[in-house]
Amino acid sequence: MGYLMRRGPPLILRISILPFCLLAAVSGQIRYSIPEEMRKGLFVGDVAKDLGLDIRRLVSGRARLVIDGEHQYVALNQNKGHIVVNERIDRESLCAKKSPCSFTLEIVLEDPLELFSITIEIQDVNDHAPVFPENEINLEISESTPTGTVFLLDSAADPDVGINSLQRYSLKENEHFVLKQHIRADGSKYPEMMLQSNLDREKESKHTLILTAADGGEPQKSGTVKILVSVLDANDNAPIFTQTSYKASVLENVLPGTVVTKVSAEDADQGYNGNVTYFFTHQKDDSSCPFEINPNSGEIKRTAKLDYESYPNYEINLQAKDPWGVAGASKLLIEVADVNDNSPIITMASYSGKISEDSPLGTVVALISVQDKDSGKNGQVRLTLEENLPFNIKFSLRNYYTLVTDQILDREKHSKYNITLSATDEGIPPLSSKKVLGLEVTDVNDNAPAFTKGIYNTEIVENNPPGVSLLQIYATDPDLGQNARISYYLIDSGINGNPVSKYFSIITESGVIPLLHSFDYEQLKEYRIRVQAQDGGSPPLRSNATVIIGIQDQNDNPPQVLYPVQTGGSVVAEMVPRSADVGYLVTKVVAVDVDSGQNAWLSYKLQKATDRALFEVGSQNGEIRTICQVTDKDAVKQRLTVIVEDNGQPSRSATVIVNVAVADSFPEVLSEFADFSHDKEYNDNLTFYLVLALAVVSFLFITC
Ligand SMILES: *[C@@H]1O[C@H](CO)[C@@H](O)[C@H](O)[C@H]1NC(C)=O
Ligand SMILES: *[C@@H]1O[C@H](CO)[C@@H](O)[C@H](O)[C@H]1NC(C)=O
Repeated sequence: MGYLMRRGPPLILRISILPFCLLAAVSGQIRYSIPEEMRKGLFVGDVAKDLGLDIRRLVSGRARLVIDGEHQYVALNQNKGHIVVNERIDRESLCAKKSPCSFTLEIVLEDPLELFSITIEIQDVNDHAPVFPENEINLEISESTPTGTVFLLDSAADPDVGINSLQRYSLKENEHFVLKQHIRADGSKYPEMMLQSNLDREKESKHTLILTAADGGEPQKSGTVKILVSVLDANDNAPIFTQTSYKASVLENVLPGTVVTKVSAEDADQGYNGNVTYFFTHQKDDSSCPFEINPNSGEIKRTAKLDYESYPNYEINLQAKDPWGVAGASKLLIEVADVNDNSPIITMASYSGKISEDSPLGTVVALISVQDKDSGKNGQVRLTLEENLPFNIKFSLRNYYTLVTDQILDREKHSKYNITLSATDEGIPPLSSKKVLGLEVTDVNDNAPAFTKGIYNTEIVENNPPGVSLLQIYATDPDLGQNARISYYLIDSGINGNPVSKYFSIITESGVIPLLHSFDYEQLKEYRIRVQAQDGGSPPLRSNATVIIGIQDQNDNPPQVLYPVQTGGSVVAEMVPRSADVGYLVTKVVAVDVDSGQNAWLSYKLQKATDRALFEVGSQNGEIRTICQVTDKDAVKQRLTVIVEDNGQPSRSATVIVNVAVADSFPEVLSEFADFSHDKEYNDNLTFYLVLALAVVSFLFITC
């Protein structure tokens, strides 16, 4: 039943890209032709085949039909790729007298966006017979009417078109009248009857005629009307309209009550001139006539709403009667002039409301259809964008436009747009309408995490318990969702040849860095580790930072005395000659502290002494000096205990025993220290002498 008619080569328009970066095409034009009045579900055309589309593509592209207007005359069977009848199509209500009658629809496919235009032509079926407005036409004709006078007869109506419409009038043969058929400018036909021989009321006062109207359909349909002619006495004259036809024009938006035009008829009978009443002779079903005639004045007023788009003109048969009921006829053609009274209508044929921020320039955001019911300039529409946004409007096909990106989008700067579309027609004054589209820009992982600092400096006191948290590092990512979910890692660059994980750990989710090790300031004063933040995008993005951990000293080491050396039971003695002056430098206690700062700042004090009055220790330098003249009474053997303290909190100390011999000669010293050595269990004489020799060397050294 469907007849495919391709008109010329298919028109292919490239209309750029859908949000998913795929190429899209807009192509047209398929034309099907079907008879009206087909049953629901009947086949119209195989679009899949005729457009060369795969059925799977129809399904994946969510193929759908976009039909302007309120009737969804046809539907798409996605599984077969067929267009079928969805609603009874009555050609006469769709197009009235317009021929050929067709409507256009679009098939919209998504991913990628494709647009196909299909025109369906509706063929007329001879489903209407010509119908006359009344069953009878009553004519009153004076017997004095000259031959050759013509009488306008009511036309029959047949809503079908072409050959199915009214083709021919015929009048049953009679002796007085012959039929004349005329064609109007619009191609329709109307009948007139001409008097061909004089009437004589005294012979025959009434004549009955039969007028038939036939269409050219197969089978033919026809309608008839009876014409009753009453022959009037020679003295009676029918009113005669001043014109055989009238023409008027009216704007479709005139106010109710406005006088559109005025007709008048004259009656030649004396005394009753102007005493004429006027009527419309409507077709029976034409109760929707938006005009009314004043029976006395012949003024025609608008009474109901006019709409150029559905009824561009009206043809009205007029009748004028005098007081005896004698009638004359004429007709009136009223043309309705278009006024810009319909605003454009913006509809979204395809719109997801979302676009990815990495969409290339020219990506299609929406497919928009704009309709305006007015005709001519009043129906010509321009679609524009209101604000200065990174989008553009492109004309696509028929009354379709695409909204495309004009700049690269960045969700982190602008995550939502309100796009105001404005459609304006070219009427005077123009009418416009607006539509606001809310567009959401979807995230792409285009930002790496950023640490709050490039270098984190932190300090920890040595001897920390393992497991304490050092610090929390933090990175931010302006992306959204998974793309902004940050995980933290240590970059293993090794510390002293050990993996970094021996010393540090990191909590992936929070960036907290716990210590796995107790640090020793005396071993390493500073650690540098590198950390990485990684987002959850696909692929993920990363950035690095450095954490510098300074180890703070604790006073965990006591001073160490380097001199005099404390060896087991051996005895070291410093010699002081009896001739030494006050302030004589006996020896110097040398000590170190491996801690640092205050913790290594040493002071010296004399803790115990055989004779406190004889020696002092320099608190800063550890020098032991005499503080009074040595006399013979002073014992040879002097024993001093020096305490070395650091300045830590609390402080730590070490003590050292310094033996001093007050003598002028070695033998004297030896005799004194012999038993001193016996105090100890150590009896190695050789060692004793060696040590003594060392003391003497040091004595000489200090003296120098
Ligand atoms: C868009 O319009 C809505 C509703 O009018 C409003 O709530 C929203 O803030 C607007 N958004 C932008 C980005 O202007
Ligand atoms: C981060 O460190 C890793 C490992 O050393 C390296 O491969 C990467 O290039 C670094 N990234 C940056 C952004 O410096």
